[in-house]
Amino acid sequence: MLPEGVTIDPLTGALTPRTGEYTKRLSEFRSIYRDQKAFEALLETAGDLVTYKVEEYRAENSDIFFGTTTMMPGRVGDEYFMTRGHYHARRDRGEIYYTQSGHGMLVLHSRDGQTRNVVMKPGVCAFIPPDWAHRSVNTGRMPLVFTWCCSQDAGHDYDEIATKGMRTLVTAENDTAVCIPNPKFTS
Ligand SMILES: [Fe+2]
Repeated sequence: MLPEGVTIDPLTGALTPRTGEYTKRLSEFRSIYRDQKAFEALLETAGDLVTYKVEEYRAENSDIFFGTTTMMPGRVGDEYFMTRGHYHARRDRGEIYYTQSGHGMLVLHSRDGQTRNVVMKPGVCAFIPPDWAHRSVNTGRMPLVFTWCCSQDAGHDYDEIATKGMRTLVTAENDTAVCIPNPKFTS
């Protein structure tokens, strides 16, 4: 394991060098949007769009790793494109999200029912405490690019959010992003 400088393109999220990457497409998110008619219509007309991609830099045996998430702009009905949302598998592991371009909203909730929203804009580094569920939402018209860093052993627990949803929805009202309580959230 040796030190290394990794270049991050703030507009595309490209990492050089990188050790891994993946993309997520619209069809993988059928259940997370509340307007199923709008979802099916968008899939039909626009096709199976890439909604976000992740690039990462991971050194074997290091405690931490980092990477970028690049989220495309778009909406399903009145909800903006978003990530799956997750807790970390390890409850004692936090994370940071440092926004480099675009505009978004990071929605978070704790297991004891607290909610917080952090505006994502260039220059803002969001602190995600251990055991807070987090989801990012692209509320702008451009790609939202952010660099994240966390422990390699943090892991992901996607199931709980996939089942229960997040406590907060981010919706467009007159083209302005508004955070509202999720009426379908089940604790
Ligand atoms: Fe995370």
